[in-house]
Amino acid sequence: MTLPPTHPLVDGRTSDAALVRAYRGSLTPHVPVWFMRQAGRSLPEYRELRAGGDMLAACLDPATASEITLQPVRRHGVDAAIFFSDIVVPVLLAGVDVRIVPGRGPVLGTPVRTARDIADLPELDPADLAPVRDAVERTVDALGATPLVAFAGAPFTLASYLVEGGPSKDQLRARALAVADPDAFAALLAWCARTSGAFLRAQVEAGASAAQVFDSWAGSLSRESWRTQVARHTARTFAALDGLDVPTVHFGTGTGPILDLLPHFGAGVVGVDWRTPLDEAARAVPGWPLQGNVDPAVLGAPWPVIEAHVLDVLERGRAASAHVLNLGHGVPPETDPEVLTRIVRLVHEVTATGAST
Ligand code: CP3
Repeated sequence: MTLPPTHPLVDGRTSDAALVRAYRGSLTPHVPVWFMRQAGRSLPEYRELRAGGDMLAACLDPATASEITLQPVRRHGVDAAIFFSDIVVPVLLAGVDVRIVPGRGPVLGTPVRTARDIADLPELDPADLAPVRDAVERTVDALGATPLVAFAGAPFTLASYLVEGGPSKDQLRARALAVADPDAFAALLAWCARTSGAFLRAQVEAGASAAQVFDSWAGSLSRESWRTQVARHTARTFAALDGLDVPTVHFGTGTGPILDLLPHFGAGVVGVDWRTPLDEAARAVPGWPLQGNVDPAVLGAPWPVIEAHVLDVLERGRAASAHVLNLGHGVPPETDPEVLTRIVRLVHEVTATGAST
């Protein structure tokens, strides 16, 4: 299926948006900006709406998910919305017992540890993604010319939560499974790629104008292990979008050693964490649009320090064919939202020459 004529990228609502143009490597009137985790606890209006309610229930209520997605767009004037959901939403919808524990993250009722556990994982029925489609449709209607970014977890990041049973420091059990039983590990990654892929495709079909895969824990793997055991599954997540012509972004943390591999596995745009300066990243993936990479640790500093850092990121980003300013990872919950609004204004002002890429 190709995108329907009423899709915002096709009917022209977002096809000329700065974000979409930059993701496609075209000239833009200013450097576009959005922030990973822009929807969330840094916003008082989010805390008020959530007020102790269950995180995954909020994700599955279309009106709530849509409202939370729109909050940072209204407040900060960012160039994109990121769909409010979580990488484990499709896992839950497949029928796996998973919750999100506040301050901790996704926790499994029963961790997935053996070949048997993996073979018993239920398949996601795409019809069960209805609340996701509904939330995306409402959001896209309200956004007008601002593009919505769809997202999903990369197979290894999702698999880490399933195997570990919850958040972990270095994904040791998941990496141990890769060594002890490579076939079971491959079967698990294939399940994750199908599940994440269906989630990503549903968002794009419902109106998202770009798609980002979060390979958050790719950096805990060696380059060799990522390349030989994981990369083809990450590529399959992107391949779920076959036939839908939307820009794709790969983001992970600690991915400095594998940046040059990413364009071979489905990424049209490379997201860079705070560890690799953008000019260095541009040398690893010459000609590729880059997204990043303001250090989240800088957001609590006095404004002149933040400003100097953002200007440095912009300067280094000029080495790329196109640059979308973002953070090098998510917004820390304690961030003063005023700081994010000021960053958006600064980036738009200093890059509004009409000649920026
Ligand atoms: O603005 C956005 O970026 C939108 C939504 C979004 C969430 N999770 C909402 C969320 C996105 C893109 C994610 C992706 C996600 N979820 C990733 C990949 C990105 C990354 O940070 O590397 C990962 C690893 C997860 C798993 C997860 N879910 C974690 C580690 C946590 C944090 C736990 C905590 O309380 O600190 C969650 C919960 C979560 N997902 C929250 C939000 C807003 C916080 C829950 C709350 O507000 O109670």
